[in-house]
Amino acid sequence: MSTSKPKVPVLAGLDIGSTKVCFVIGTVNADGKIEVAGVGTAPNTGMRQGVVVNIEATTDSIKKAKEEAELMSGYAVSDVWVGVSGTHISSFDSKGMVAIKNREVTASEIERVIEAAKAVAVPTDRTVLHVLPREFKVDGQDGITDPIGMSGVRLEANVHIVTGGQSAINNTVKCVEKAGLKVAGLVLGQLAAAKAVISPDEQNLGVCVIDMGGGACQSLYFSNGSVAHSSITPVGGQHFTHDIAVGLRTPQFAAEELKKKYGCAMASMVNENETIEVEGVGGRKSRVIPRKDLADVIEARAEETLNLLANDVRMSGLLPLMGSGIVLTGGASQLDGLVEMGEFIFDIPVRRGAPRGIGGLTEVVKSGEFAVAVGLLLYGLAQRKDLGLHQPQEVNLGESIDGFTKKIKDFFGQIF
Ligand SMILES: Nc1ncnc2c1ncn2[C@@H]1O[C@H](COP(=O)(O)OP(=O)(O)OP(=O)(O)O)[C@@H](O)[C@H]1O
Ligand SMILES: [Mg+2]
Repeated sequence: MSTSKPKVPVLAGLDIGSTKVCFVIGTVNADGKIEVAGVGTAPNTGMRQGVVVNIEATTDSIKKAKEEAELMSGYAVSDVWVGVSGTHISSFDSKGMVAIKNREVTASEIERVIEAAKAVAVPTDRTVLHVLPREFKVDGQDGITDPIGMSGVRLEANVHIVTGGQSAINNTVKCVEKAGLKVAGLVLGQLAAAKAVISPDEQNLGVCVIDMGGGACQSLYFSNGSVAHSSITPVGGQHFTHDIAVGLRTPQFAAEELKKKYGCAMASMVNENETIEVEGVGGRKSRVIPRKDLADVIEARAEETLNLLANDVRMSGLLPLMGSGIVLTGGASQLDGLVEMGEFIFDIPVRRGAPRGIGGLTEVVKSGEFAVAVGLLLYGLAQRKDLGLHQPQEVNLGESIDGFTKKIKDFFGQIF
């Protein structure tokens, strides 16, 4: 790989999805902004709803995507930020309290109070991925976001802890390492996606980001600027494709193409006179059908999916706090008419989210399917104290994963 390029900080993000692996390489420019330098994608059949079901297939897809991104960017990378999500993730609130030494809050107090909040019983088969501070209290005074320098005797922290299943995470790490890479850090996929597609204003007003992938929809709720809840709804783009294949009696690959090219979530938005050609199964001749028939099939699934998601929002109890509404991202959010239908079903504002706040090859990563991979670069950058750009906002632990944890800790120093 090229060695003639000037030495600039290079970061890499890896999103291992149920339909495809996405590898993004970015550099950090003089303004401290990420510039996307290379992108590689490869279809993946070895992952299902965030859990590795085939190590070989996943490793191969990671290798392919990495090589493509390296070729495009001209940079070779060895460390990568990896997104994790899926059915094995769970998250909950916790509290911690410590006495403030010398009556002034310092970084070490924050570290201690976070440790105290983390000291809840996490079963041995789970790994703590994130400890996300929600608010601090100094001597009972609540609503504090940055207590450093404040005077008091007692510091409390309310945090949101995200954990993942140990074996699911180990298998993901195994695939990454078998592909010849080192894990720089593990990041909740929808947290990375949120970094890429929503603004701090939206976070402060309250927003629910939903990464609609091939196998599932992963939601992350922000209220008052911090993460309040995460969840998964096991329906994704592949279910839409399956319905089309069955409903229109066409092969899966043809159904996938029809969905992307002519699909629409609301049949009423489709012109009655428009027709499309549908390939037959098993050598049967293709047929010409109204495009509305395709939309009818999709509409049923879209309505069901959005209702499940809306139910999730209601069940979270956070609906009244979602001032900025819902942001849909991920590949499956690109379906025509989905936002329009979403506005009906959620009854709060809905928009589509695509990566922003980056430079370089923005055209290549402008769709929601790159949100997680691009967000991993942004997340990685925020953690890089060595670049002098670190914003204290969270702790990335990944403690019980042998092999690379110590390196991460050595690399990033102490938390915060
Ligand atoms: N234009 C489009 N219209 C409708 N669906 C689309 C479009 N583009 C992509 N999709 C769907 O998006 C899905 C892939 O999205 P994405 O790449 O975010 O998933 P993934 O990360 O592989 O899966 P997961 O996150 O569930 O593990 C596929 O099911 C694909 O059919
Ligand atoms: Mg995904």
